[in-house]
Amino acid sequence: MAYETLLIDQRDRVVVITLNRPQALNALNSTVMHELADALASMERDAGVGAVVLTGSEKAFAAGADIKEMQSLNFVDAYTGDFIGGWDKIAGFRKPIIAAVSGFALGGGCELAMMCDFIIASKTAKFGQPEITLGIIPGMGGSQRLTRAVGKAKAMDLCLTGRMMDAAEAESAGLVARVVDAERLLDEAVEAAAKIASFSLPAVLMAKEAVNRSFEQTLAEGLRFERRLFHSLFATEDQKEGMGAFVEKRKPQFRNK
Ligand code: CAA
Repeated sequence: MAYETLLIDQRDRVVVITLNRPQALNALNSTVMHELADALASMERDAGVGAVVLTGSEKAFAAGADIKEMQSLNFVDAYTGDFIGGWDKIAGFRKPIIAAVSGFALGGGCELAMMCDFIIASKTAKFGQPEITLGIIPGMGGSQRLTRAVGKAKAMDLCLTGRMMDAAEAESAGLVARVVDAERLLDEAVEAAAKIASFSLPAVLMAKEAVNRSFEQTLAEGLRFERRLFHSLFATEDQKEGMGAFVEKRKPQFRNK
């Protein structure tokens, strides 16, 4: 399927989605939101897709929600229309999704990257929540996910001053999993996604679900949840295959069953 604001490139079991609104530094308008939700929904259904990489251009992963689109919104329209509420569908994607970030990841762009399972950044990446400079606050999770990722001090600093942090600061603060040279960015992300896609899909989905659950509940509940998922994986053929292969000193052939 062809999209107006996305490029889709499947490489074996990995799909690379590239945000493609260069004229607006990949600003996230409602077309991007609907197209991304549609693309991810079809990838969730497609057994041939094991993992997704979401990326932008060298200059911008995404420079935020589209300011020109929302400039004239009023409260009633925003509230009754649940403006930007559709991004929850992207955050709810069940398969692994890696953000490969180069250049600006600001406002909604930073928030979109944080909806992904982890972020691989190029040395040129810049992260920030500059909404305060526009007379608003983050609306796609910035005040919540950023705080969980980097802690209160840095989240307050970024949300209140609107300043950007570079890739090195983002990595040391815990926002970013890896920083690589700009030329390596996409290869690094695709290789990581391919590795994930080579593992047993049920185990991968449960690993993602378990880690995400840790942000939603107490440690005791989270540990119980993890143990139940762990037990359930012993019902899969892939557990027998994975452990059998280890014992027999061969490479496992997971069948996602
Ligand atoms: N929305 C709409 N258009 C945007 C945009 C955005 N968020 N960011 C950049 N653009 C457009 C610019 O208007 C410009 O278009 P024109 O050529 O038609 O004027 C084009 O992209 C190139 O941008 P610049 O000329 O500004 O490029 P630059 O290199 O000088 O600056 C930048 C880059 C620092 C990222 C600057 O574009 C900028 O500050 N962008 C806005 C960042 C921002 O405030 N993001 C938060 C948005 S609010 C939000 O995201 C709310 C939320 O939480 C959901």
